[in-house]
Amino acid sequence: MKSIILAAGKGTRMKSETPKVLHTIFEKALVSYVIDAVNGTDLADENFVIVGHQAERVEEFIKLNYTNAKTVLQSPQLGTGHAVSMALPYLKDFEGEVIILCGDTPLITSDTLKEFVEAHKKMNSDLTVMSAIFDNPTNYGRIVRNPDNTLNSIVEEKDATPEQKAIKEINAGIYCLNWGKIKGAFGELKTNNAQGEYYLTDIVKWANSKSLNVNAYVLKNNEEIYGINSKANLAEATKFLNQRIIKKHLDNGVTIVSPENTWISPETEIEPDTIIYPCTYIEGVNKIGRNCKIGPFAHLRGGVVLEDDVKIGNFVEVKKTTVKSHTNACHLTYLGDSEIGSNVNIGAGTITANYNPLTKEKTKTIIEDNVKIGSNSVLVAPVNIHEGANIGALSVITSDVKAWALAITRSPLRVIDNWVKQKLNRH
Ligand code: UD1
Ligand code: CA
Repeated sequence: MKSIILAAGKGTRMKSETPKVLHTIFEKALVSYVIDAVNGTDLADENFVIVGHQAERVEEFIKLNYTNAKTVLQSPQLGTGHAVSMALPYLKDFEGEVIILCGDTPLITSDTLKEFVEAHKKMNSDLTVMSAIFDNPTNYGRIVRNPDNTLNSIVEEKDATPEQKAIKEINAGIYCLNWGKIKGAFGELKTNNAQGEYYLTDIVKWANSKSLNVNAYVLKNNEEIYGINSKANLAEATKFLNQRIIKKHLDNGVTIVSPENTWISPETEIEPDTIIYPCTYIEGVNKIGRNCKIGPFAHLRGGVVLEDDVKIGNFVEVKKTTVKSHTNACHLTYLGDSEIGSNVNIGAGTITANYNPLTKEKTKTIIEDNVKIGSNSVLVAPVNIHEGANIGALSVITSDVKAWALAITRSPLRVIDNWVKQKLNRH
C-alpha cells in the first residue's frame, strides 16, 4: 500500500506565518500525527505528502523527519482531485491499494485506519470512502447512497440540493482506492462545479460509471476526523487528544488528580501508582516509573526518564534528564541535560546551568548517588558531583566535586550586634 496525504491548502484561518500542517500539538506537527497513524498500521510502505502553500518549509520538515515519506509539489492548487493527481507520476505502475488522507486531521488513529482498510478488503471494494454521521453536516460533502447501500456519489455543500443538504452522513475525507482500477479517474476529472475545482470526490461517480464496487464505511468515533482550520480548532484538538491520553493512563493505574488541568503528550509512558498533581504539563517523549509524584505545576519537556519513587515537585522543570530511584527535586528547580543518581536530594531553587549563550552549546551535569544539593545552588555544566558529596546552600559549582566532599562557595555570615537599634536611634 501507499498513502497520499493532502497538505497543499493555504490554511488562511490559522492567521499564521507557519504552514497549517506544521502547527503542533504537544510540540508534534499535525502532519506527523497523520503520517505516524499511517505508519502505525504497518500497511503502507511509502507516503506521498502533497505540498503547495509554503512548500519549502513542509518539504524540509518531511525530509528531516521521515525516510518513508516524499513530498510532491502542487502548484497552483486546483482542488483535492488535482492534488492527488500530482502523485500519478510516482505511481504509474503501482497496482496495490492507495489510502488518501488530509494532513490536518491529527486525531485519526492507526486502529481506525486498519479497520477501514480491512472493511475495504472484506467488501471487495474498489473504492471505499470513510463517512461519519454528523448532527450538523454543514460544509462537508454529503454521502449519497444507492438503495442497496453502496455509495452513489458525494455532493459538496455548495453543489447540493436542499434535499441533499438534509443528509447527515458526510464525507470524512479519507479514501481507500484499488489504485490500478481507479487511477484512470484522475485524467477525467472536470471543474464544472460551484467552486471550479477538480474535486477528488468525483472519482466516486467515475468509478460507478465503470461499474466498479464503491462503498462508504462509517467511522465509529467522529472525533478522529476532527479537522484543524483555526487556532480554536487546534486548542480543541489538543483537548480531545489529551483526554484520550489521560484516560489511557487512568485505565493503566496512574493517579491523575485533576484530568482537566493536566497535560500529557502522547509519547509519555507512565507506570502505575504514580501520582500526577494538577497543572502539570508534559511534552515530548518521556518515561516515568512507578510511585513517582509529579507536580503540582511541574513541567517535563521531553527526554525525561524517571525511575521509580522519584519526586518532581512544584515549579520544577526537567528536560533531557534521567533520574534514578528515590531522588527528590521538590521545589523551584531546573534540571536540564543531566544524569542524576538515586537517593539524591535536590534543594529548592537548584539550577543546572547547562547552556552557554556565547557558544550556544549545551553541556551535561552528572550528579551521582546519595548527593545532597543545598538550596539555591547553581551547578555550572559540564560538571560532575561525585557520590555522596554535599553542596552547601547558595553555592555556585564550576568544577567537579569529589565523592563525599563538601563544596561551598557561600560568603561568610556576619552578625552585627544591635545594628537595627542603632539605625532606628539615628532617625
Ligand atoms: C473536502 C471534501 C469534502 C469533505 C471534506 C472533509 C472535496 C472536493 N471535498 O472538502 O467532501 O467532506 O474535505 O474534510 O474533496 N488540498 C490540497 N490541494 C488543493 C486543495 C486542497 O492539497 O488544491 C488539501 C487541503 O490542504 C486539505 C485537504 O486537501 O488538507 C482538503 O481540502 P479542503 O479545501 O479543506 O476540502 P473541503 O472543501 O473541506
Ligand atoms: Ca475547499
